[in-house]
Amino acid sequence: MKNHGEPADSFDGRPVIGICNTFSELTPCNAHFRELAERVKRGVLQAGGFPVEFPVMSLGETNLRPTAMLFRNLASMDVEESIRANPIDGVVLLAGCDKTTPALLMGAASCDLPTLLVSGGPMLNGRFQGRTLGSGTDVWRLSEEVRAGTMPLSTFLDAEAANSRSAGHCNTMGTASTMATMAEALGIALPTNAAIPGPDARRATLAQMAGRRIVEMVHEDLRPSQILTREAFENAVKVIGAVGGSTNAVVHLLAIAGRVGAPFSLDDWDAFGRDIPCIVDLMPSGRFLMEDFYYAGGVPAVMKTIADRLRLDALTVTGKSVGENIAEAVCWDREVIRSLDNPLTSQGGLAVLRGNLAPLGAVIKPSAATPALLQHRGPALTFASIEDFHERVDDPDLPVTADTVLVLKNCGPRGYPGMPEVGNMPIPKKLLEQGVRDMVRVSDARMSGTAYGAAVLHVAPEAAAGGPLALVEDGDMIELDVFARRLHLDVDAAELDRRRVRWTPPPPTMTGGYQSLYVSHVLQADQGADLDFLVGCRGAAVPRESH
Ligand code: FES
Repeated sequence: MKNHGEPADSFDGRPVIGICNTFSELTPCNAHFRELAERVKRGVLQAGGFPVEFPVMSLGETNLRPTAMLFRNLASMDVEESIRANPIDGVVLLAGCDKTTPALLMGAASCDLPTLLVSGGPMLNGRFQGRTLGSGTDVWRLSEEVRAGTMPLSTFLDAEAANSRSAGHCNTMGTASTMATMAEALGIALPTNAAIPGPDARRATLAQMAGRRIVEMVHEDLRPSQILTREAFENAVKVIGAVGGSTNAVVHLLAIAGRVGAPFSLDDWDAFGRDIPCIVDLMPSGRFLMEDFYYAGGVPAVMKTIADRLRLDALTVTGKSVGENIAEAVCWDREVIRSLDNPLTSQGGLAVLRGNLAPLGAVIKPSAATPALLQHRGPALTFASIEDFHERVDDPDLPVTADTVLVLKNCGPRGYPGMPEVGNMPIPKKLLEQGVRDMVRVSDARMSGTAYGAAVLHVAPEAAAGGPLALVEDGDMIELDVFARRLHLDVDAAELDRRRVRWTPPPPTMTGGYQSLYVSHVLQADQGADLDFLVGCRGAAVPRESH
C-alpha cells in the first residue's frame, strides 16, 4: 500500500476497516455509493481506524438478466471470501438495491467479523400530474392501464421519469426498503438507517457515524453472531409485518439465519408475525412513500409503537439493546405510522400457507391482496413457463374468468433458474377490460416487493423439483384460505400419484458456468434458496499463509 502513499505507521495499533462497496453504474440504486464510502472513511479515520474500500459484485434489479436473484448467492460468496482473505478487522457494508443487502449480510455473517451495514437510502418522492408516484408500484399499476388502453405509452414513460428523480433505491416499501428496515430491526445497522432519503445530508452523517462506530465495535469485539440471534430475527419479522414489508424478506431472512446458524424457520415467520398489524401506510399496501416515513419517525418510531411485542433486550451494533435504542423515539405523523388501535390492516405479517399443493410451504402478503380473495375456490388455468404465460395471457379466447386461479410453474429457484419476480402475473387483458384488477395467482416464483395482488408465492417444493405444483392441470379446483393458512389442490391422492408417474422434469434452460453450480446446489424457498454448501458460519480465520 506504499504505492498509494501510505506512511509506514498507518496501521500501527489501528483497526483496519473494510468498506465493502456495491457501487456500480449498472446498479442505479447504488450509483451514489462512492460519496457514501468517503463519508464512512472519514468516520473511520476520526475514530482512529484505517479504512480500505473494496468492490464486490453489485446486483442491479432492473438491469440483470435473467434475474438478480440468480446472483445473490454468487455475490455473497464474493463478499465472504473478500472479507476473509484480506487483512481487515471489521467491515462496513454499503447496500441498496434489493439483493445487495441480503448478499452482503449473508457473506459477512459467514465470516463473523465485526460488521455494520449502511443502506444507500430511498429516492425522494415521485410527483406527476399533481399526484404522488411510487417506484415499482405505480409502474405495475400504470402498465396495466397501458395494456387496458386507458393510458398512452408516452404518458407512462413521463410518469416513470417522475418516479425516478434522485439518488437512492425504490421509494416504496418494496424489497430494498424492506431489506433496509430488516437490517435496522435486526440490529446490524444504526437506528434510522432505513428511511433517510438517499440525497438527504443526514444519510452522509449516518455513514460517517457508522465509520466511527465500526472502529469501536472492533475494539469491543462485537460480532454478528452476538447480534443476529433468534431474538433479532423475531424482531425483524415483527417489524417487517408492521411496515407491510416485501414477501422477498422471507427467503432473504431465512438465508441470513442459515449463515449465522440462528434457529429460525419458515414456521417461525408465521408464528412471530401472525398477530402483528400493519401500521405503516406505505405503498404498495398503502398511500405514502419512504420520504414521508422518515419524516414520521421511521423504523425507531415503528419499533416504539410495537415495543411491547419486541425482544427489547436484543443487542445491536450500537452496543446497546433495542430497548435502549428506541427509548427516545417519537412518531411525528400518525397518518403515516398509525397507532396500534388504528392499523392499516389487522394482520400485517406475511402468511405461510401449507397444504397438499405446498407441503413445504408457500407465502402470501394479505395486506397487498384484495380482501375478498383471501378465501377463494376456483378452477386452475396452468402455464408451463412464464414464456407460455406471456404467449397466451392476452388471447381473447383464453378460458379465464375472475374466479380462475392462474397457476405458473417452473419459476422456482431451480426451475427458472433463480426464482424470478414473476409471481404477480399480469391480469389477462379480457378481464382487465371487464374491470378486474386482482385475482388469485399461484406459483413457485417470487414477486417484486413493490407489487401487489392475491399472489401465492414461493410454493415449495417447486415444480421443477417435482413438487405437487407440477401436477396441477387445467380445471383442477384450488382452495385458498389465508385465515386457515391453507392451500389445497382438490384432486385425490391416487390421481396425483398417477400424474406423478407421468411427470418428467423440464429440460434445463441454462447450462454450464455458475448456472450449473447454482442449479445443482440451490435449496428450496423454505430454506432461503441459498446454496447448500454456503450454509453456516465458517469464521474469518485463514489456516494457511503462502507469502
Ligand atoms: Fe433497485 Fe428497486 S430497482 S431498489
